[in-house]
Amino acid sequence: MALIYTNENNPATLKLLIAKNVSKAPVNLKIVHVNDRSIPQPRRLPCVEEEENLTLFLPNSAVCYFNPVKENTSEVLDWLEWEAKNLSPCLAYLCGSSVKNPSFKKTLQTYLTKLECSLKDKVYLIGNTFSNADIVIWSTLYPLYLNEALRKEYLLLPNIIKWIEHCETIPQFKEAVAFFKIDGKTAYAALAAGAKYLPIPDLTSSEGTSEESGSPQHTVEVVSEEELKSAKAAWSKDVTKLPKLKQRNGKVLPVSKEKNIFITSALPYVNNVPHLGNIIGCVLSADVFARFCRLCNYNTLYLCGTDEYGTATETKALEEKLTCREICDKYFKIHNEIYQWFNISFDHFGRTSNPEQSELCQEMFLRLNENGFMFTQSVEQLHCPKCDRYLADRFVEGGCPHLGCNYEDARGDQCDGCGKLVNAVELKNPRCKVCGSRPKLKTSNQFFIDLPKLEPLLHHWMKLSTPGWSNNAQVISKSWLKEGLKPRCITRDLKWGVPVPLDDYRNKVFYVWFDAPIGYMSICKAYTKDFEKWWRPSKDVEVKLYQFMAKDNVPFHGVLFPAMLLGANRGYTTVSHLMATEYLNYEDGKFSKSRGVGVFGNDAQSTGIPSDVWRFYLLYIRPESQDSSFSWNDLVTKNNSELLNNLGNFVNRYAPIILCDFLSPSLRLAFIGPHISSRLFTLNGFYDYLHWR
Ligand code: MF3
Ligand code: ZN
Repeated sequence: MALIYTNENNPATLKLLIAKNVSKAPVNLKIVHVNDRSIPQPRRLPCVEEEENLTLFLPNSAVCYFNPVKENTSEVLDWLEWEAKNLSPCLAYLCGSSVKNPSFKKTLQTYLTKLECSLKDKVYLIGNTFSNADIVIWSTLYPLYLNEALRKEYLLLPNIIKWIEHCETIPQFKEAVAFFKIDGKTAYAALAAGAKYLPIPDLTSSEGTSEESGSPQHTVEVVSEEELKSAKAAWSKDVTKLPKLKQRNGKVLPVSKEKNIFITSALPYVNNVPHLGNIIGCVLSADVFARFCRLCNYNTLYLCGTDEYGTATETKALEEKLTCREICDKYFKIHNEIYQWFNISFDHFGRTSNPEQSELCQEMFLRLNENGFMFTQSVEQLHCPKCDRYLADRFVEGGCPHLGCNYEDARGDQCDGCGKLVNAVELKNPRCKVCGSRPKLKTSNQFFIDLPKLEPLLHHWMKLSTPGWSNNAQVISKSWLKEGLKPRCITRDLKWGVPVPLDDYRNKVFYVWFDAPIGYMSICKAYTKDFEKWWRPSKDVEVKLYQFMAKDNVPFHGVLFPAMLLGANRGYTTVSHLMATEYLNYEDGKFSKSRGVGVFGNDAQSTGIPSDVWRFYLLYIRPESQDSSFSWNDLVTKNNSELLNNLGNFVNRYAPIILCDFLSPSLRLAFIGPHISSRLFTLNGFYDYLHWR
């Protein structure tokens, strides 16, 4: 049974009771003080609690919930909106608060004049019987009528008086007044106290319009009765036409003659907490696409996981004084939890440090080697005798080798003094970043992938594949190819990685960009033993691979990984849609963990803003074709204007009417209840709603 929380004397409760009397729905009334902690969030009064977590706190929405609007819909809704945005706040400010603003007096008079004109020669506001428009406006004006002083000041308007007195005799109205006493002296103060945040009455829509009569907003009406009818008809037709959603049991596998969509998002490094830019760039974009494909009943597989090998992890391990394994475990958990909170619908979220990774990575290497696409060459590298290890560029520091820059602490990859790129072996007085001792130059043999030899294959493949890629992905990949490909060293003298499976090389591991993309396969294998159905589909099965990433990842997905797959020559699935975003900036700068600038996954969580609002806003500002930026002010504005006012209001006003016939009562409740009224209406909720039917 519904429970109405209200403070005493609140005229907004009167309308709930009248509407409830119309529908004969049973309710309980709980009289509370405005500061009572038991009032459901967002603690406005009156509010209606249907079940736990299911609250309607906009009185007029609750009225429509008790007494659904059947006729003259848009006219009724316009009056309700006018009452909520104009009449009611104006009365609350003017008669209910201690701060008096003389302009509201004039405003109220304008409102009442309009109402008076609308009631000319009429018994009810609209049509031949009372509607929700009468219920809400009557309830709001009734205290004014009861209060003799106020009535004299404002209500010397015969049509309104006649209408008020007539409605007073209607049984549902009468009963409500008998049940819930309203005192004309304190009612507006009670209204103001319960409302928490009163909108400022909208002066523009009441003054200076040329229209003298008619309902208040008819000049701006956008949806006509006609349109609403046809929307309803179209909706009801399509509802029955939509295919039933496939039951998904077991692992998703591609099927011949069906659409098989394989979606990945770039595997995040496991040395950080993802920020909003990472989230929109890959996982969230891919997630929306995956949800869409599932709604279309395509066989959809969406995979991702953490990219765990390489110097990024080793650096972090040194910094946090943990082992590489411990770092990976720690950050895998962080990533996993953040994506869960954002409701990312992975079919599996894996890790590249899994055993399948080593197996597949070594297999790929051996195959490329056999096919003649690998060669070895000796390479000069810095080696620290004390630590007994080769030093990755970021592990060496020394004097900047560039002329004129005397910066002493240049890193092996770049000098922070002059900003120029540095070749680690050219540093003056190099020192090991860990122990400070002087590293020595040593030569060692490394494997190179012979990209020039793969170029013709790639060229041909690109011609066929790139048309479906995002524009920037095409531009970046093509420019790489145009410059001419160079052989790339794919092994390293490190410990944390997939070992090279050949004698004389066993103490080396693969370079992270050689092993990482193989993660897409190994994570797939960890998900299902039938992973080859996705990766090496038989002739009669078509798999389309969609890969989502930020633009800095394009060369590896658009050139390097396809080159590996083509060179292996085993009929591997290659990317058919490479989707790259531009960068998301933070306010006016860049996201930066080291400088603590930006919003990171966990920060978003701790704001208390629901993840669906984040999802909405991030998708809204998704850097599709140029960099965009996150701004707190804009988040608030877009949430209020686009999500709540436009979409939420549209659904709140029209969806209940259009959908009510098709929804079971509990679903209807779920739909207009928590999602909208408690401002949690979600894009997700909308999709899920479609699922439920
Ligand atoms: N870890 C890389 C990054 O965060 C992306 C790797 S994607 C994959 O930029 F191809 F390696 F899987
Ligand atoms: Zn050292």
